[in-house]
Amino acid sequence: MLLLDAAERPLKPDLIDAAFRADVLDGLASRPRAIPARWLYDERGSRLFEDITRLPEYYPTRTERAILQAHAPAIAVCVGGVRTVVEFGSGSSVKTPTLLSAIKPAAYVPVDISGEFLRTSAAKLATAFPLMAIHPVEGDFTRPVVLPAAAAAGRRLGFFAGSTIGNLAIGAAVDLLRAFGRTLGEDGMLLIGIDRIKDVGLLVAAYDDAQGVTAEFNLNLLRRINRELGGTAPVDAFRHVARWNEAETRIEMHLEARRDVRFEIAGHMFSMAEGETIHTENSHKYGPRDARLLLRAGGWSPLAEWTDEDGLFALYLAKTAPPAAAP
Ligand code: AVJ
Repeated sequence: MLLLDAAERPLKPDLIDAAFRADVLDGLASRPRAIPARWLYDERGSRLFEDITRLPEYYPTRTERAILQAHAPAIAVCVGGVRTVVEFGSGSSVKTPTLLSAIKPAAYVPVDISGEFLRTSAAKLATAFPLMAIHPVEGDFTRPVVLPAAAAAGRRLGFFAGSTIGNLAIGAAVDLLRAFGRTLGEDGMLLIGIDRIKDVGLLVAAYDDAQGVTAEFNLNLLRRINRELGGTAPVDAFRHVARWNEAETRIEMHLEARRDVRFEIAGHMFSMAEGETIHTENSHKYGPRDARLLLRAGGWSPLAEWTDEDGLFALYLAKTAPPAAAP
């Protein structure tokens, strides 16, 4: 085994370990028990999420892609010419090239926390769009992003796909939209995918698929805890639960104890009674008015929206709202 001393070890993984550890220990000590959803996305978790996007029950990805493919020319007309497209989060999907082909920006700025992921997807796009300048920014897009000088001039369009906004509770979602506003500037625009409230049976099936991929995605959090934090959580003593919370209009994922369990994580003991849960992810859904109200609360004026014929999912185009409203 190779052991590096503290000075030689890269700083960043250590910081991530410490943040993961703190979130897990605090989350399991709180009531209700909850661990932030971002820890679901380690390497295996990200791969399982990719598998989820191809499941027959998981309608959001293919529906959003179809909406974009059908309406990209109309979206480009409404956008009316921007110099730079700033994409918040992953840019590996087929959605990005569809949008870029229609908008034809001079510059593209993908912003992601995973530097490696950014570089591979940026390299692929560079081949497909040889004339477009690509400026990847490795960083946390929940804070205003400092754009490279070459991408900061001219009008900017933000792109936030996949209904990732749904991960956040309403207050945090509003804060994120305001941070986008600061990144995109005074005459900025935003194209955002937002998943709709619909039949509860369809919603629950999308988060509890017949093949058990979503269950494995959720249970993988316990495997990660055991591996990275020296945990002893008995994975087979937990079951994946997806439930609709009507009051909060969201799907919640939980890990439910099938029996009384006791386990250790990083030297701390935890016990859970049969039926108790750890809340691991939220996916908020928005009706048409809810979505427009969310955008306005976040400092954006909705300009147009596009949906599929069943109204499962919606893409919204918005422009920065003027700071003070009249009268
Ligand atoms: C990545 C947050 C958009 O909420 O639909 C899918 C995550 N979790 N199945 C979603 C997810 C389980 C997904 N988002």
